[in-house]
Amino acid sequence: MVRKKIVAGNWKMNHTLAEGEKLTSEIVNMVADEVHNGAQVVLAVPYLHIPGTARLLKGADGIALGAQNCHEEESGAFTGEISAGMLRSAAVEYVILGHSERRAYFGEKDVLISKKVDIALKEGLIPIYCCGETLDIRDQGNHLDFVAKQISEALFHLDAKTISGIVIAYEPVWAIGTGRTASPNQAQEMHEYLRKHLAGKYGKDAADSITILYGGSCKPDNAAEIFSGPDVDGGLIGGASLKSRDFVDIIKAL
Ligand code: PGA
Repeated sequence: MVRKKIVAGNWKMNHTLAEGEKLTSEIVNMVADEVHNGAQVVLAVPYLHIPGTARLLKGADGIALGAQNCHEEESGAFTGEISAGMLRSAAVEYVILGHSERRAYFGEKDVLISKKVDIALKEGLIPIYCCGETLDIRDQGNHLDFVAKQISEALFHLDAKTISGIVIAYEPVWAIGTGRTASPNQAQEMHEYLRKHLAGKYGKDAADSITILYGGSCKPDNAAEIFSGPDVDGGLIGGASLKSRDFVDIIKAL
């Protein structure tokens, strides 16, 4: 089973529209000139950047548009919120859900995130479901079961066919924005464990078809080593996705 290889950039709350346009244009040109490994690139930009980025990505081979969140309801009186259907209508293909910053600062729990996964799928978006343990949990040695449980709670209501189309991003909280990455062995160990956990519920074929990304201080100089794990199918990149040279070098490392 050939899994999709993905490098997704998570811009978080960064860049004015002009800065975003410049970054996207640079990435589009560099990917066209330099990337030949068939990787799927995703730019998960702030909501406001979506229409402009969509225009710049028209005709850009292998680069898809992503969002960083959506609301769990289809529509209605939810002032200030953005629906999955709106995103889809704006040419968004992927949506990051359950990022650890949403969990930590906005109180998102897996019960809520599972609703977001459902509405995203219903509207035709591909969820990038984020999971990962804090340093405390890793120090206690409970990280493997903790992350497996996150996945069970948020995703195990789906059927095998549906879950096969989902992307999972393992992002140890202690590695996000800290400059401290999981070692290639730590990443592979977790990814392999999660894939076995998925296989236990859905069978090997479904588990083998799910793309599992690593995220957390991924940089051009450590990406190739992290991506070398057989169960590591690419990366979700924060800080380094804000610089075109670094981001494209990470794509090339895949
Ligand atoms: P980072 O962020 O690459 O800046 O550590 C990763 C993420 O939060 O997705």
